Amino acid sequence: MNKLTIREKALLPIVQGGMGVGISAHRLAGTVASLGAMGTISSVDLRRHHADLMAATGKSRDKEAINQANLVALDREIQAAKKLSEGRGMIAVNVMRAVAEYAAYVKQACQSGIDAVVVGAGLPLDLPELTADYPKVSLIPILSDVRGIGLILKKWMRKNRLPDAIVIENPRYAAGHLGAPNKDSVDDPGYAFPTVLEGARELFKDMGLERERIPLIVAGGIHSPEQVKNLFKLGADAIQLGTAFAVTEEGDAHPKFKEVLANAKPEDIVTFMSVAGLPARAVKTQWLANYLDKEEKLQSKAAAKPCLVGFDCLHQCGLRDGIGKHGQFCIDQQLAFALKGDVNRGLFFRGSERLPFGNEIRPVKQLIDFLLGDGYVEGLANAA
Ligand SMILES: Cc1cc2nc3c(=O)[nH]c(=O)nc-3n(C[C@H](O)[C@H](O)[C@H](O)COP(=O)(O)O)c2cc1C
Repeated sequence: MNKLTIREKALLPIVQGGMGVGISAHRLAGTVASLGAMGTISSVDLRRHHADLMAATGKSRDKEAINQANLVALDREIQAAKKLSEGRGMIAVNVMRAVAEYAAYVKQACQSGIDAVVVGAGLPLDLPELTADYPKVSLIPILSDVRGIGLILKKWMRKNRLPDAIVIENPRYAAGHLGAPNKDSVDDPGYAFPTVLEGARELFKDMGLERERIPLIVAGGIHSPEQVKNLFKLGADAIQLGTAFAVTEEGDAHPKFKEVLANAKPEDIVTFMSVAGLPARAVKTQWLANYLDKEEKLQSKAAAKPCLVGFDCLHQCGLRDGIGKHGQFCIDQQLAFALKGDVNRGLFFRGSERLPFGNEIRPVKQLIDFLLGDGYVEGLANAA
C-alpha cells in the first residue's frame, strides 16, 4: 500500500490541489483531510464565502480593508476545515507566488495553525524566511520541471531548509495557471511525468539528498486507477487532482460551476494567456469565447489603469498595468462569477482530460476509493 509520509505523518497518497477563487475552501479541504489525505484551501479572496465580509468590503475600494477581510476569511476557513477533519489527514493552504498579498497570506496561514503551505505560480525562493517562526509548518513548492526543482533545492539548502514534498504539475493537462512560459510550450516533453520523476531522483542523488526522501506528488490530468498504479510504479509518492475534486459533492463552488466543468467536452477546453502573465486552461464558455475573439484588439490597446476591484490582487496584472502580451480581463471578478455559478460571465478553470466519473457529481470518498482502490481509506485508518 502506497503512503505519503510528510513529517512522519502517514497520509493517503492522494492530494486535493488548491483551487481559487473559493473553489477549495473549508468544506472540500476538511472533508478530504477527514479521510486521511491532504486537503488544500486556496487562499485567494476567500471573503467571497463570507456574507458579512462582503457586506463590509464588496463595493469598497479600500485596499487595506479588503486585504484585512481576506485574512479574517482565511483564518475562519482554516479553523472550519480543521474542525471538519477532526485531526485526521493534513490541511494545507495554497498561496500563489504571483499574488500581491502572498507574504501576508503565508503568515496568516501559519498563525492560524496550518499544517502545510503550498506555493505555485512562481518560484517561492523566500518561503523558508517567511515561515522561519513556524518550523512545524511543512513547505511544498509546485514546480513543473527538473530545472525548477534544482533551483528551489539550491536556494533553500543555503537557508538550511528542504521542501517537505514537491508537487510536479504537468502544464500539458492541468487546470488554472500553468507552469510554462507561454501557451505554445505547455506540451514540451520536458514536463512529462517520467522525465521529471527520473530527473528529480537523479538530482537528489547528485545533491546528496537521496536519504532525505522528499516525496514527489504528481498533478495534471489524472483520472483512472490504472494511471495511478502506473505513476506509483514510476516512483511518484502521491497524486494530486484538481478538477475531479472541484466537482465533488463537497466542492465549495455553486452546483452550476460543477456542471460547467463536468459537462465540458475536449473541444470546449482552451489554453490562453492569463492577466498574471502565465498560460491558463479553462472551459471556453460564452464569456471566454467572446473575450478571446477580442483579445488581440484589447492587447493592442493595453494601457495602465486603476484596478477594477480595488485591491490589486496580483503583483503584476496585464489589465491594470497595461501589459499588452498578458491577458486583458479582471481575473478576480471573472473567477468570482464562476464560484457563484454565473455561467454567462464566469471564468471556469478546468484540466484537459476526462473526469473519473464522467459528468457525474459524487462524494469525495467515492473519488478516493475509485482512484486508489476500494478499502484504501479504511486500510490507512486501521494501520494508524
Ligand atoms: C477551478 C480550479 C482552480 C485552480 N486554482 C488553483 C490555484 O489557485 N492555485 C494553484 O496552485 N492551483 C490551482 N489549480 C490547479 C489544481 O490545484 C491542480 O493542481 C490541477 O488542477 C491538477 O490538474 P487536474 O485538474 O487535471 O487534476 C486550480 C484548478 C482548478 C480546476
